[in-house]
Amino acid sequence: MSRLHILRYPDARLHKIAAPVAEVNDSIRSLVADMAETMYAAPGVGLAATQVDVHKQVIVIDASETHDQLLALINPEIVAAIGESDCEEGCLSVPGIYEKIARAEHIVVRALGLDGQSFTMEADGLLAVCIQHEMDHLKGRVFVEYLSRLKQTRIRAKMQKQLRQSA
Ligand code: NI
Repeated sequence: MSRLHILRYPDARLHKIAAPVAEVNDSIRSLVADMAETMYAAPGVGLAATQVDVHKQVIVIDASETHDQLLALINPEIVAAIGESDCEEGCLSVPGIYEKIARAEHIVVRALGLDGQSFTMEADGLLAVCIQHEMDHLKGRVFVEYLSRLKQTRIRAKMQKQLRQSA
């Protein structure tokens, strides 16, 4: 396993659209293992392949308090969404920024697991928020893009400053 480099907003590669995974093979399982290691090390509760510059529909999430409930979703699709909640979100690609975003409160998701089998799951609370946030990454969307233009401009300036300082 190895830790992967996480792209930082406003990197243009965060806007690429991820392609569906044709076959869940060892290279996908190894990508999931590396993404999980990267997410836990960060530390974070979710990571999309897009964030590590791999443009395939793969996300990993662990929204548990014990950090031992790894969930890998391949080719995830939301098949039902009910209610609305706004929860404060953050993102490993936009460090230090936390903003409230409106999301569906309860979702039903269909995806492939690491065994290549399709399964359906229900989620609410933090897990539902995480799944929607990570699925947005696969569509090239970063959560700050739901905010006003003014806020986005400020966040972009802050991120560019951080990058210059770390360079
Ligand atoms: Ni994110």
